[in-house]
Amino acid sequence: MKKISQAVIKRLPRYYRYLGDLLENDVVRTSSKELSERMGVTASQIRQDLNNFGEFGQQGYGYNVEYLYTSIGKILGLEKEYNIIIIGVGNLGQAIANYIEFERKGFKVKGLFDVNPRLIGMIVRDIEIKDVSEIESFVKENGVDIAVLTLPKQKAPEIALNLEKWGVKGIWNFAPIDLQSSQGKICIENVHLSESLMTLSYAINEKNDEKSN
Ligand code: NAI
Repeated sequence: MKKISQAVIKRLPRYYRYLGDLLENDVVRTSSKELSERMGVTASQIRQDLNNFGEFGQQGYGYNVEYLYTSIGKILGLEKEYNIIIIGVGNLGQAIANYIEFERKGFKVKGLFDVNPRLIGMIVRDIEIKDVSEIESFVKENGVDIAVLTLPKQKAPEIALNLEKWGVKGIWNFAPIDLQSSQGKICIENVHLSESLMTLSYAINEKNDEKSN
């Protein structure tokens, strides 16, 4: 298969979200021009991005919204279901467990794990929080696809190493450290909301500087 650039892949979820909004509003067809106006990406960029995956549009017609939405969903692997576990069930872990939209997209939370005895045994969204010592057997018995790491950064690398060894396919890492696969078998997405916040603070300060000049 042709190697697709990370920049293109990073734009696909946005296309998917915009097309989902159009679908909700019963829009049947759209064009790269219309999408570009909504999304702030040039029309030629959109055409180029989508051409990586085949012919979706038709000259003079544009794109069929439902077909494009479903196709991008397939490219992103969203037609499948993924079993998820969350490791570290504090503020963020519980917020993710309670966010039902992930489940609607096929990401099913199956297990919750923590080290804190006060949390172990507690129920969050019908799931009992278990001790971290049970992760290995749980992963082996339940076919876990993705582990969400919402625990302090000190333990994250060791846990990631084990998850890879036990056959978990992906890590959605929120611990403030960039994790990497040690054997190249596991996919890792490091998410750092604070970076986005810092980008915002830069933008605010840049605007203030412009005003004062
Ligand atoms: P929290 O303190 O509420 O929750 C952390 C949980 O991890 C606690 O329940 C704790 O008992 C558990 N824990 C500690 N060691 C563990 C281990 N070895 N195995 C399993 N569980 C363990 O903290 P909060 O606010 O939920 O944040 C969680 C993590 O996410 C922190 O590392 C924080 O820095 C990070 N974070 C990252 C963000 C991002 O954008 N990447 C945004 C917010 C928080």
